Amino acid sequence: MSAMSASDEAALARAAAAFEAPAAALDVIARDFRAQMVRGLAGRPSSLKMLPTFTRQPSGRERGRVVVVDWGGTKGRVGLIELAGGGAVRTLVEEVFTFSEADKHGAAARVFDVIAAGIGRVVDAPAEGAQPLGFVYSYPARLERIDRAVALPLTKGWSLAGLEGQDVAMLLSDALRRRGLERMRVSAVANDTVAALALQSYRARGRDAGARPADIGLILGTGTNQAADLGPAGIRNLESGNFDGVAAVETAYDAALDRELTEPPPGSQRFEKMVSGYYLGEILRRVVEDLGRGSPMFHWAAAPAFATPFALDSAHLSRIAADATAALSGIDAQLRQLGVESTPGERRGLRDLAGMVARRAARLVAAALLGTLRFLDPELADPRTIAVDGSLWGGYPGFAGLVREALAELVGRDRADRIEIDFVKDSTSAGAAVIAAVAAGQRSE
Ligand code: BGC
Repeated sequence: MSAMSASDEAALARAAAAFEAPAAALDVIARDFRAQMVRGLAGRPSSLKMLPTFTRQPSGRERGRVVVVDWGGTKGRVGLIELAGGGAVRTLVEEVFTFSEADKHGAAARVFDVIAAGIGRVVDAPAEGAQPLGFVYSYPARLERIDRAVALPLTKGWSLAGLEGQDVAMLLSDALRRRGLERMRVSAVANDTVAALALQSYRARGRDAGARPADIGLILGTGTNQAADLGPAGIRNLESGNFDGVAAVETAYDAALDRELTEPPPGSQRFEKMVSGYYLGEILRRVVEDLGRGSPMFHWAAAPAFATPFALDSAHLSRIAADATAALSGIDAQLRQLGVESTPGERRGLRDLAGMVARRAARLVAAALLGTLRFLDPELADPRTIAVDGSLWGGYPGFAGLVREALAELVGRDRADRIEIDFVKDSTSAGAAVIAAVAAGQRSE
């Protein structure tokens, strides 16, 4: 078994160091993030869209049954949720379905037909009266009312004909009509970040009417984004995945990835491309491919299973991080599945690189959160609550700890301790029900 050469070791160390994201760079990013929030809110040019959400914080007293739709990635969900009071949410029925690659690049109507068919299977159309439906649409959309959301360009690798510029509530209503489900009324459209925020607030206030609502909803899954309650400006969908102030920590790999992908186009979703689950595996794959070029180390990265774009995903990174064995036998097994035989040195190298890519993502998330927190409260004097959901946050071992550590580095332990970060697992459907119930309350006022 050959040990790694000194030059390979040096190349590895250089690549890992490129993903360092030191505190000084993060602080620059946090300040720019806040400044871009201000510009976005004022309607000036900004990579943060600061989209209105037309929803309010729940009181915690919302009750009733709501049909929910969750569309934000390869898996979609439809269900029937009951808000039972006291912060309780029950899922009465739920169906998960998977969109095909063809669905992701076809006609929008086809996707809405898949969703409507799912709704038809889980809920019987009521004999009379309209049934409220909460639709979580986890892509950029400009809301004009709580039930009118005009689609902006898609993210996370989707591209659909006939979507951009259209009202997604209307497209869903049309598909429901085609299915004979016209009694279902799309009563609210919301982003998944807003659903996480609303659910956290609903639960807290349902248990204790005086509880503080959540300040921020964060998603860290296939994509990433934040929503925040900005007081007088209302709850806004920042679309923080599009934040472009990343120069201080950008590597050549990030620049190439941004340049070479067409969906979403270069220059857009810059933050997301360095942070979210859709991209982390691909960043790692590119680093390994690069180091393997012209060196015995990682020479197998040229094998088809590895050389294919997106052959690695964030679940691979999570499993790499979870391998606590001395021989890194978990990583060995994963590589074998990809048709690759590795040396112990290569496995260590892969583990270190993967760890750095994920750690940088966590540190960038901390910087972006700090941007929002400082917008809310420049001195970080008051306690704040962040509700977070998503597969990367929930699935990557130690991710939350990395974010907390970076926050403490940036603002000191005392201030960081006032920031509560709550994981609200599977928040989307439940949050959709809360938002639809809040909308019903607003309408009847
Ligand atoms: C979308 C956001 C969404 C986030 C997390 C991003 O790609 O633009 O709307 O909140 O993914 O799902």
